[in-house]
Amino acid sequence: MLKGNTAIVTGGSRGIGAAIAKKLASLGADVALLDIGNEDQAALVCEYCRTEYGVKAAYYSCNVADFEQTKEVVKQVSSDFENVTVLVNNAGITRDGLLMMMNEKQFDDVISVNLKGAFNMIKHCSRMFMKNKCGRIVNISSVSGLNGNPGQANYSASKAGLVGLTKTVAKEFASKNITCNAIAPGFIATEMTAEISAENNPMAAAIPLGRAGTPEDIAGAAAFLVTAPYVTGVVLRVDGGLGM
Ligand code: NAI
Repeated sequence: MLKGNTAIVTGGSRGIGAAIAKKLASLGADVALLDIGNEDQAALVCEYCRTEYGVKAAYYSCNVADFEQTKEVVKQVSSDFENVTVLVNNAGITRDGLLMMMNEKQFDDVISVNLKGAFNMIKHCSRMFMKNKCGRIVNISSVSGLNGNPGQANYSASKAGLVGLTKTVAKEFASKNITCNAIAPGFIATEMTAEISAENNPMAAAIPLGRAGTPEDIAGAAAFLVTAPYVTGVVLRVDGGLGM
């Protein structure tokens, strides 16, 4: 389904990003993982994609918050791979704390990675997508960006910002066969949420489907958006019904 296409997945070394990379590889896409760390985990993901699905896979060390670095890495990926048409902006961090206690650095760091990181990647990929006459952008937002969440002023602002960015990019590039959509995951069991268990988290306990989501739940939604040419500008909640 995606054979002959290359997907860039930021934060693709572990958690949701790794699951998305594997899912897109299972559909035939070559995959380029961009991550600031976790090189060993990234190597395992690449190896898995190559051996299980026979696709090309490579890891690039990159801080998505850095405008120049992302520019260079996108250039490198486009010379190493054929026909880059997919970008999944998944890299994200949390620096939680109630607003009264949150310092400027906590706020700036989260905005830089979660929001500016997506801007950087879209900015540097857009010309290539136009040249390739196709682009499928998926931004990983969060229900925290749609509903707010105490202790996450920085994070929810960054994730709400991604919703605005998604819709504007969708409108600006629609005529070029470039779609841009967002996924708003609910509570997903990954290393990011490892210390929050379903038992002591009121949000997790309130999930109608009765369980935390898995990275594969999000990967399935990402695969849908990447392969849906007539869907653009949407924010797809994948939250076990939390938003009802
Ligand atoms: P994770 O912490 O397991 O993985 C995030 C990956 O992003 C890591 O490999 C990390 O090295 C990478 N990364 C962090 N900063 C980076 C930077 N500056 N440049 C490049 N890569 C960077 O997190 P998880 O849970 O897999 O989350 C993935 C995305 O999903 C994030 O954007 C997160 O905000 C979002 N999300 C997660 C939810 C959850 O419950 N786990 C819920 C809603 C959204």
